Amino acid sequence: MRNSSDISSFLSVEGSETDYLIQIRSLQECICDLLFRNQALRMELMERQQRQLGASTALRQNNKGDPMSQLFNKVAIVTGGSRGIGAAIAKHLAADGASIAITYTKGAEAAASVVKEIERAGTRAIAIQADAADADAVTDAVEKAVATFGRLDVLVNNAGTAIPKSFAETTLEDMDRMIDINVRGVFVATQAALKYMSDGGRIINIGSSVGERMMTPGLVAYSATKGAVKMFTQGLSREVGSRGITVNNVQPGPIDTDLNPAAGDWAEPQLAATALKRYGHVDEVAALVSFIASPGAAYITGANLTVDGGTNA
Ligand SMILES: NC(=O)c1ccc[n+]([C@@H]2O[C@H](COP(=O)([O-])OP(=O)(O)OC[C@H]3O[C@@H](n4cnc5c(N)ncnc54)[C@H](OP(=O)(O)O)[C@@H]3O)[C@@H](O)[C@H]2O)c1
Repeated sequence: MRNSSDISSFLSVEGSETDYLIQIRSLQECICDLLFRNQALRMELMERQQRQLGASTALRQNNKGDPMSQLFNKVAIVTGGSRGIGAAIAKHLAADGASIAITYTKGAEAAASVVKEIERAGTRAIAIQADAADADAVTDAVEKAVATFGRLDVLVNNAGTAIPKSFAETTLEDMDRMIDINVRGVFVATQAALKYMSDGGRIINIGSSVGERMMTPGLVAYSATKGAVKMFTQGLSREVGSRGITVNNVQPGPIDTDLNPAAGDWAEPQLAATALKRYGHVDEVAALVSFIASPGAAYITGANLTVDGGTNA
């Protein structure tokens, strides 16, 4: 007697007292067997729960080279990754397990030190000199990254510049420079990257909170270029969504970098416009980029996400 149908048949048995005793012993064995199997099932369930807990802990720890890292075996390009926000993004994505290619223009030493820091922490990285305003250099940089690491999953269009001036003082050369790096550079890098990008990849643009709402003077031309990045993001998300590729625009507010120092001439009105009454840290932008690059953000696309201390609230 081994299961419940055997037990049912036992209840309908007719016969001698010995037959009943045999059947009762058999029933006892059956109950023991069921209890044992129940216990075994409970143990298996507990082990499974522990395995799941272990997996999520491993994800949180972001161990490099660990198959459970959220960007394990993925490759990311971060333009303008030698300093400031771009360097922080490169390090965060590397900590999530990705191999990293950064671009820069003049700061070869700063770029090399970001690469070293990433390598010391256990992930692969290269630095490529490529001015975002030079279409051929940008295309070559994308191809070199793919040739080095064998694939491409994430492009972060971070390289950008601002030339803060009153509108009256802004020259056509200033405007052209900002368009070339902030808009044309994004166009070129994205088109080159999409040729190689895996399905399910990520394009993450670093726009600006001023691309959506303007709270301070001196950034007319710059904000126009970041407004263009916003609409570029939304438009492109419609064209690559069928490949599972997401396109999002991270819009920092005032973040303390060489470009926008918290102690700089233009800082006071920017600080005053924040709800949190402080400049942001580069890691606070990189943390959001890291999330958007992760598998958990697969259903976020065409979005403009501000990290601005409440500037645009
Ligand atoms: N900081 C802020 O408050 C703030 C706010 C909103 C948006 N943003 C945006 O965030 C991005 C990064 O800004 P950031 O403050 O980190 O700037 P940053 O401190 O000036 O750093 C700029 C980085 O980009 C590189 N870079 C500059 N021009 C380049 C070009 N033409 N081609 C390729 N790389 C170039 C620099 O490398 P080299 O040293 O080699 O030139 C450096 O690695 C920009 O798109 C910016 O518009 C910043």
